[in-house]
Amino acid sequence: MRLTRRQMLRTAASAGAAVLLGGRSAVERALGTVGRTFPAILQRPIPSSGELLPAVGIGTARRYDVGTSAAERASLMEVLRAFPELGGKVIDTAPSYGAAEVVVGDLVQEIGNREELFLATKVRADGRQAGIDQMQESLRRLHTDRIDLMQVHNLVDTETQLATMREWKEAGRIRYVGITTSSNRQHETFEDVMRSEELDFVQLNYSLANRQAEQRLLPLAADRGIAVLINLPFGRGRLFRAVGDRPLPGWTAEFDCESWAQFFLKFLLANDAVTCVIPGTAKMEYLVDNVGAARGRLPDEELRARMVEFFDAL
Ligand SMILES: NC(=O)c1ccc[n+]([C@@H]2O[C@H](COP(=O)([O-])OP(=O)(O)OC[C@H]3O[C@@H](n4cnc5c(N)ncnc54)[C@H](OP(=O)(O)O)[C@@H]3O)[C@@H](O)[C@H]2O)c1
Repeated sequence: MRLTRRQMLRTAASAGAAVLLGGRSAVERALGTVGRTFPAILQRPIPSSGELLPAVGIGTARRYDVGTSAAERASLMEVLRAFPELGGKVIDTAPSYGAAEVVVGDLVQEIGNREELFLATKVRADGRQAGIDQMQESLRRLHTDRIDLMQVHNLVDTETQLATMREWKEAGRIRYVGITTSSNRQHETFEDVMRSEELDFVQLNYSLANRQAEQRLLPLAADRGIAVLINLPFGRGRLFRAVGDRPLPGWTAEFDCESWAQFFLKFLLANDAVTCVIPGTAKMEYLVDNVGAARGRLPDEELRARMVEFFDAL
């Protein structure tokens, strides 16, 4: 039974009030924040199940494509260990991100925090058997017998892969199924699939610099009760380059915004259709900053309009 929009908002609000992080973890000690009480972290429900997800995740494209040496993996290890301690859960990877899926699997196994995480990966293959082979390889690489979310990557062979994914879901090897895109040119076809298939999740590109998803895909996801992950929330870093070294405007204090990253992420999270944003995060400093966007107030409609006006004028 899918949650209605109203039930979802109510669940999210009470979850936000319930989850308070203490001040005693290794992460907080490392950050010198002992004694500081963090405000609640925003969580949003997955409409098809009601399960709550923290609203800021981690994307692993490019930066997690590293070798096997401890030196290359040190900063990623630190991030993946700290992430659930800071209240996070969702990690998005893919077999096509070079070594990223292997690196996530190895590090999570070494840290031993698999059960605290929600692992999302993808399948990009032509034909039923090729898809099955790739998904089996993902289970092996991630050292798990169950993937939380399996997504058809960029609509490649969608119907065939979704059919297998549903069988795997029945068998308990996948918990949720979805599709992804990161290109505005695919949005029309993406919308068709959202209408014709039963999906738990969609993952799509949306940022302050690229708001096309607001027109049709996000309202449709809310109407059909589909959870939404947001990729490219910083336009692969382009948004930071757009603001340069400008200081944050004073009015950003009205929604508890402490950095440009939080400015960009809070803009997206203020859209009720968004379940979780997955910024590419490979440094501890960025992790703390990005997860911080799930704390405090979000901009209301008036402030969101002001953010758009500000950004478009750059
Ligand atoms: N079709 C698909 O399914 C698809 C396509 C694209 C992406 N994705 C997913 O979406 C995720 C996000 O996309 P992305 O990683 O390509 O791009 P992104 O999240 O839009 O931007 C990542 C960039 O932002 C920088 N950054 C991150 N946090 C920051 C902070 N707090 N302050 C300043 N800079 C910060 C990073 O810097 P550094 O470079 O210094 O680390 C990196 O260059 C991917 O990792 C992937 O999981 C899916």
